[in-house]
Amino acid sequence: MSKIAEEYKKRRRNLMHQMVEGSIAIIPGAQEVIRSRDTHYPFRQDSNLAYLTGFPEPEALAVLIPGRSQGEFIVFCRDKDRSREIWDGFRAGPDGAQSEYGADDAFPISDMDDILPGLIEGREKVYYSMGSHPDFDSKLLNWINHIRAQSRAGISPPGEIIDPEHMIHEMRVIKTTTELGVMRKAGKISAAAHKMAMQFCKPGMFEYQLQALIEHEFADKGADAPAYSSIVGSGDNACILHYIENRAVMKDGDLVLIDAGCEYQGYAADITRTFPVNGTFSDEQRAIYEIVLEAQAVAIDACRIGNTYNRPHDDSLRVIVEGLRGLKLLQGTTDEIIEKRSYTDFYMHRVGHWLGMDVHDAGDYKVDGADSNWREFESGMVTTVEPGIYIHADNKKVPAKWRGIGIRIEDDIALRKPGPENMTAAVPSQISEIEYLMKA
Ligand code: GLY
Ligand code: MN
Ligand code: MN
Repeated sequence: MSKIAEEYKKRRRNLMHQMVEGSIAIIPGAQEVIRSRDTHYPFRQDSNLAYLTGFPEPEALAVLIPGRSQGEFIVFCRDKDRSREIWDGFRAGPDGAQSEYGADDAFPISDMDDILPGLIEGREKVYYSMGSHPDFDSKLLNWINHIRAQSRAGISPPGEIIDPEHMIHEMRVIKTTTELGVMRKAGKISAAAHKMAMQFCKPGMFEYQLQALIEHEFADKGADAPAYSSIVGSGDNACILHYIENRAVMKDGDLVLIDAGCEYQGYAADITRTFPVNGTFSDEQRAIYEIVLEAQAVAIDACRIGNTYNRPHDDSLRVIVEGLRGLKLLQGTTDEIIEKRSYTDFYMHRVGHWLGMDVHDAGDYKVDGADSNWREFESGMVTTVEPGIYIHADNKKVPAKWRGIGIRIEDDIALRKPGPENMTAAVPSQISEIEYLMKA
């Protein structure tokens, strides 16, 4: 068995280990989504199904039944179909699901109505994420009701439906060595693409031309796709956090903020760099940039095993507030400003999020949901660190020279011993390095 197949098996075993006795887990994959009439968006597998099986096709469904003597891992998938395969591409089929993906048993989707109720019958609990797959929800409830109707014949329906997502997500939040290796590669490709954008950028280009350059580099290096819609925002567009139009012409004297990362073998990178369109920072741009850069350095340094998740945010927020006070853009003491949240005109998001198969990856940030109970960092977690300062063109509270500056700097940090590993450090973030690269 290949190393990766071994790893999927281990993940399933781990999940089954956490399931209560006499239970079944049902994990549907993603469906194709129509983009226009009869064409679809590029298919992307559901991250949970991909994490547990690696099975890449639409409409698949994985079933786990710990302790089932005829096999614990069952797959329903599209049947082999010569004509469909000529039009749409290869299908593993049930045989392939067994030989290539390690299923103990596998059936075509068309047999699901006949077979799945029998697998559910007699199980006390069903692990299934209600609401995440609306089409499947009603099917499952129908089967359970059908079983319930037969209860006088001694067939017992499950008494409880439990959401398995929390268990799977808590597994996903800690990355294995294999996963970290893939994420490093996603980071490396994305960093090289950002570097190219810096080298090619010049006044008069359109934002979408930098997007094209970056996404070409992703594809050229074998990435699956951009992990999320690339953001290329110049001038005041940099202050729109999720700006994805990317249609404007980039002007001499403006900054451009690029937030883009590829998905490689199912794992996301997430990088932001902000640099001057003409290659040289103005005094005001430099002043704001240095604050964000220092905030990022402090936040990255706080990504240490045993620190709580809020440490990078809290430490870097202090740097941002003190920096803005130093430039007289905020008034009052640092504690007052933080207490009253008056910094939110300039900084309105948190410093990071989990990163993995999903760009905003799975996993809790707090323990027991309690407001103050931030969880501790553990080895193998990956978080982004992305402080920013955004001064909108219409922010009349500050002198005009500061307006229209939006800066974010984002890297992907793995929690390691002895300290944080920056997986995207290959793209420059120091002012001198950026200016040097852009001149060359
Ligand atoms: N690219 C999305 C984010 O930074 O959260
Ligand atoms: Mn980002
Ligand atoms: Mn991010």
